[in-house]
Amino acid sequence: MTDNAAAILIREAMNAQRHAYVPYSRFRVGAALLCSDGTIYQGCNIENSSYGAANCAERTAFFKAVYDGHRDFDAIAIVGNHEGTDKYDYCPPCGICRQVMAEFCDGEKFQVILARSETDYRIYPLKEILPFAFTPKNLIGDEG
Ligand code: THU
Repeated sequence: MTDNAAAILIREAMNAQRHAYVPYSRFRVGAALLCSDGTIYQGCNIENSSYGAANCAERTAFFKAVYDGHRDFDAIAIVGNHEGTDKYDYCPPCGICRQVMAEFCDGEKFQVILARSETDYRIYPLKEILPFAFTPKNLIGDEG
């Protein structure tokens, strides 16, 4: 991942924040998922008055992409901050989102980019943030 490619993905994640529906937490999360063919899918968090029904930005991006037929992914950029501020801290994906990533992504290849700006970011291989994951291989063997 070049600095330029990371910056593009981070910018798309920041743009995605505008779509967040966050009347309860006021915490806007944006994600930009890079498919192996170069397509980028954006996602935002979508909350619910029954709080547990909220969908995170990362899963919104994944589900949009999978619906459109994508199965191969290279990276995801994630940003999050409180409404009304321009201050960013790193926004690590929740456990459920990590598990969704593990369903579709190679733990060593897939890169998770956590950003505070287009130039201030950290990159983690999925395997590092979700070690010893339960994956399709555990359920249906190597054919999965
Ligand atoms: N959130 C995400 O969208 N992604 C994460 O990985 C962490 C949390 C959202 C869920 C909820 O709408 C808000 O952030 C506060 O938890």
